[in-house]
Amino acid sequence: MNKILVTGATGQLGGIVVKTLLSKISPQQISVISRKEESMAEMKAKGINTFVGSYENVASLLKAMKGIDMVLLISSGDQGDRMQEHKNIIDTAKKCGVKNIAYTSRALRDRNSLQNELMKDHFNTEDYIKTSGLNYVLFQNALYMEFLQFFVNKDNIEKGIFLPIGDGRAAFTLRADQAEAMANVLLKEDFENKIYQFTNYETYSFFDVANLLTELSGKEIKYTPIELSSFEETMKQRGLTEPVIKKMAGFLLDIKANQEAVVTNDLENKLGRKPTSLKDGLKMLFNL
Ligand SMILES: NC(=O)c1ccc[n+]([C@@H]2O[C@H](COP(=O)([O-])OP(=O)(O)OC[C@H]3O[C@@H](n4cnc5c(N)ncnc54)[C@H](OP(=O)(O)O)[C@@H]3O)[C@@H](O)[C@H]2O)c1
Repeated sequence: MNKILVTGATGQLGGIVVKTLLSKISPQQISVISRKEESMAEMKAKGINTFVGSYENVASLLKAMKGIDMVLLISSGDQGDRMQEHKNIIDTAKKCGVKNIAYTSRALRDRNSLQNELMKDHFNTEDYIKTSGLNYVLFQNALYMEFLQFFVNKDNIEKGIFLPIGDGRAAFTLRADQAEAMANVLLKEDFENKIYQFTNYETYSFFDVANLLTELSGKEIKYTPIELSSFEETMKQRGLTEPVIKKMAGFLLDIKANQEAVVTNDLENKLGRKPTSLKDGLKMLFNL
């Protein structure tokens, strides 16, 4: 590997990618870009090249990509125009003579029937990369297991879990497993326009989540599937705005429709071990 720029390196996924890269290559081969200088202080102290900038600021991207061979584009959040931000990075990479690009997409069953509009950016970004002329690797990542912490908290543990997901299944995967496997691919492989689906080796429903939490905690934790309308009503009573509720609804309906139930061996192959199971992940995430 020559020189790599990791965007989103100050985030939870990117941080582990950089840590894994650092164990195999010199810090001078790694560059990172962030909107906040202070978030990169530790990496800078280790000898990593740090650039203050953003996905929106093309001038900052041009500076960070000078002399770079490979860019890992970690998908942006949904606060701004995510598609335009991704295009800025892909276009700048081309302009700077970067040869290889990797992108963190999502493993979802059918892009045409997705309810969550935000997921469409991932597939549109994939399309844009495929026609960019850059060599690419697409990491289609499963739903983070950590996402369960948003929906299962102390309150749920006492009263039970009520979600409009039915018996929909998801291949929940620890973010750290995905990050480590991504770094392994970036370190070892030529960019031959490959797609990896980094999912767990099996899928789990919320009945499984509740049963495992019961087993691990010793307290009965029940999952009750509810109608979407009653979920939306509860969210409204909690003061959430219409757009936020709509976003949550799309996300949950996709789980219900098994959009998140893709399973492959790609993650196991690139980790060289089985991904963390839901039981072990829950133990860790909920200190059980
Ligand atoms: N697979 C899943 O279940 C799942 C779930 C949620 C999200 N995601 C996607 O995966 C991505 C990474 O996840 P994560 O957990 O590592 O997120 P995270 O901890 O929130 O980190 C996001 C990173 O993206 C950077 N970033 C965001 N917008 C940026 C911008 N406009 N310009 C420059 N940097 C920007 C942030 O940098 P600074 O703030 O330091 O500038 C930060 O390093 C998310 O952004 C999202 O697209 C996937």
